[in-house]
Amino acid sequence: MFERVEFYAGDPILGLMVEFANDTNPNKVNLGVGVYYDEDGVLPVLECVKTAEQRIADPFAARPYLPMEGLPGHRKGCQNLLFGKDAPVLQQNRVATVATIGGSGALKVGADFISKWFPQAKCYVSDPTWGNHIAIFEGSGMEVGKYPYYDKATGSVKFDELIAFFKTLNKNDVVLLHPCCHNPTGVDLTQAQWDELLQVVKERELIPFMDIAYQGFGEDMDSDAYAIRKAVDMGLPLFVSNSFSKNLSLYGERVGGLSVVCPTEEEADRVFGQLKFTVRRIYSSPPSHGGRVVDIVMNDDELHEQWVSEVYAMRDRIKAMRLKLKSVLESKVPGRNFDYLTTQNGMFSFTGLTPEQVERLKTEFGIYMVSNSRMCVAGLNSSNIDYVANAMAEVLKD
Ligand code: LMR
Repeated sequence: MFERVEFYAGDPILGLMVEFANDTNPNKVNLGVGVYYDEDGVLPVLECVKTAEQRIADPFAARPYLPMEGLPGHRKGCQNLLFGKDAPVLQQNRVATVATIGGSGALKVGADFISKWFPQAKCYVSDPTWGNHIAIFEGSGMEVGKYPYYDKATGSVKFDELIAFFKTLNKNDVVLLHPCCHNPTGVDLTQAQWDELLQVVKERELIPFMDIAYQGFGEDMDSDAYAIRKAVDMGLPLFVSNSFSKNLSLYGERVGGLSVVCPTEEEADRVFGQLKFTVRRIYSSPPSHGGRVVDIVMNDDELHEQWVSEVYAMRDRIKAMRLKLKSVLESKVPGRNFDYLTTQNGMFSFTGLTPEQVERLKTEFGIYMVSNSRMCVAGLNSSNIDYVANAMAEVLKD
C-alpha cells in the first residue's frame, strides 16, 4: 500500500540534533541547530520567563481553546516589538497580527495566505537561505526561486547583483528577506543597502516578506528591526514572521507571530479574517502556555526591561565567543583570514569549510555543524572553544 512513499533522509539541521544526542564522544560539541546555550553549555530559562511562569503556575487551571488568532497580549507583544510601541501604523490599525506556532508556523500561514490570494506570485529566497523557507513556500504550492546574496569570494553580499535581480522580478512576486542575523550566513545588509533595496521593492511592486527570528541578537531590538520599520515608513505592504524561540529561549513552546501591514484599516480587517481562516484550516488555534508567557513578559514594563537585558547578555556572550575563536584560530592557522567571525551577526557563522571538513569535524571530533558550513557560535563556551579551534585547525591543515 505504501510502496510508493519515498524515503525521507531527514532534516539537515534537526537531524543533527538526533545524531548529536546519540554520539557517545565525551567531548562532543553541538554547533548545529540554532539554539543558544550559556557559558555552562546549558539551555537557559530566562529570569523574566521564570517570573512569568510563577504568575501563571496553576497546574489545575482550565485549558480553554484560544481564539484562532491567539492571545491579544501575545499579538500586541509582537506588534510593539516589530514596529515600535508608538508606531503610527499600529495607531492606524493597519497591521493584522496572528500569534503562530513558532516562526515556522508564521511562515506557513503567510505562505498559504499568499498562495491563495496571489496565485501568480513566485517566491524568491536568498542564496543561500534557511532550508525550511524553501520547503514551506513550496509546500504551500508556490514556485520558489533564489536571488543572489552571499559572495563566497568576499564573504559579503553580492549587492549589485541582488539589486539587478530584483529589477527583473514581476509585480506581486514575494521576496523573502532576513531583517537581521541572516540565516545561515550571518551577513546582513547595511541600513543604506536596505534603503536602496526597498526602493526597488517599491518600484517593482514586489511583496516583501521579512522573517525575523533573531531580533536582539544583532545590534539591538530597534536596529535589528530597521528594515521592517523602513518598509512601513515607505508605505509598502509587508509580511513579517517573527519567532520568540531564540530571544525568549522558548524553543519548545513554539511561539511566534505573523503580521501583515496593509494600506488601510479596512483591508487589515479583511486580511485578519483570512489569516484566522488560514489558521483554522491548518491547526485551528495556537496552544496557550507559551502565548501566556509572551503576553506577560512583553506587556509588563519591568519584565520587558529585564528581558531586553537578558537578550543583550546572550548577544554579548556570542560576540565574545566570536572574538575568542577568531584570535585562537589566527594563531593556529596563520595565513588564513578569520575576520568573518567578527563581522558576521547573530548566532551563525558561515565558516567556508567544505562538506568533507564538516564531516571530519563530526566523525573525528564529535563537533556538529550544518553541512553548508554554518556554525552556531552560541554553542561555544570557554570550556569547549579551544577544542573546537584545535579541531578546525586540524581539518583546515589538509
Ligand atoms: C536553525 O536554523 O537552526 C533553527 O532555526 C532551527 C530550525 O528549525 O532549523
